[in-house]
Amino acid sequence: MLLRRLQLRNHRNYAHLDLTPGPGVNLFIGDNGQGKTNLLEAVAMLALSASPRTRRDNEVVGPVAAATRIEAEVESGGIVIELAIALTVEGDRARRVIEVDGVRRRAFDLPGHFRVTLFWPDDLGLIKGGPELRRRFLNQMLVQVEPGYARALAGLKRVLEQRNSQLKRMAAGDGGGDVLEAWNEELIRIGGEVSIARARAVQELEPVAARCHSEIASGERLEIEYLGPPANVAEAVHNSLAEDLRRGSTSIGPHHDDLRVLLDGREARAYGSQGQQRTAVVSLKLAEAALVAQRTGERPVLLLDDVLSELDGERRSALLRQVAGAGQVIITSVEAGPFPPELISSARVWTVSGGEISTCG
Ligand SMILES: Nc1ncnc2c1ncn2[C@@H]1O[C@H](COP(=O)(O)OP(=O)(O)O)[C@@H](O)[C@H]1O
Ligand SMILES: [Mg+2]
Repeated sequence: MLLRRLQLRNHRNYAHLDLTPGPGVNLFIGDNGQGKTNLLEAVAMLALSASPRTRRDNEVVGPVAAATRIEAEVESGGIVIELAIALTVEGDRARRVIEVDGVRRRAFDLPGHFRVTLFWPDDLGLIKGGPELRRRFLNQMLVQVEPGYARALAGLKRVLEQRNSQLKRMAAGDGGGDVLEAWNEELIRIGGEVSIARARAVQELEPVAARCHSEIASGERLEIEYLGPPANVAEAVHNSLAEDLRRGSTSIGPHHDDLRVLLDGREARAYGSQGQQRTAVVSLKLAEAALVAQRTGERPVLLLDDVLSELDGERRSALLRQVAGAGQVIITSVEAGPFPPELISSARVWTVSGGEISTCG
């Protein structure tokens, strides 16, 4: 997967940008608030169709017009395609139009044309935040590589809504145990699909993540464990009926799954330092990129936002060794200092300042 050219018009603080990244490491250096994250956001939008940074499209629209256009030429499997996202402000929202090779497409047709693996500082939530962030990590990865997964997720959401409203009807004395039974079966069937896909992915991620982590963190042992529904789901669903009726919600299912991350056998969330947690998240992301490459036959573009801060010198160089040779990489940093000369000489280096990008080597 290759981003050959990126053009931004009025995206956040970029009034106009025309960028031709190289096929290997691309390094973007700039002070805080200059547009480094904004750049990565635009690239990620081309893969995800929406911003990973905000739910409100109109936030990305810059000050010079009531519209934004993000355009790219990407190469996938030797074929070059043009992708575009156009946003037009309408009141406090924005209308989004997506084009593939100039033809208007629906948002969910976009993922798959262009794949990225994104790390940015918010991703520390993967260790520190609630389980929904870890489920989202697995979901966002799986929708990119398993055609049926997005459908299963949507199905699960519908089943939970229906089952929960049936629970409330029953709690209000409105009978319908047989209707609930039907939703139980759907929950077990679709829930099983989702959980199995996640468990399999975690099994695939673990050895790669562990190897990356150990190399970056001189031997520290990373383990990840998928905490899925109980082995006998049918029985658990049955046994939870009284509780579910009381709460009007479903207590068994993949919507409660979690991912446990251990460092040298101890819970990373409780015992890891900021630097250790950051290393663990980066390792998980590198493993995600490897999984996507394995499943699709093509490496995603690696987007690493400010990944070096809070890592000591040794971890920095070990991480950069991992990243060099990982296909196309777009990496941002406030300083060029941490990058070894051999990386700088083989990378394309750019400076970011006030929404403008220029080459500096
Ligand atoms: N919609 C917008 N229009 C114009 N400028 C914006 C918009 N959204 C954010 N910005 C500006 O972008 C800058 C932050 O860019 P960012 O990419 O986060 O910086 P950094 O280089 O630190 O990653 C800030 O100066 C902010 O004011
Ligand atoms: Mg930033």
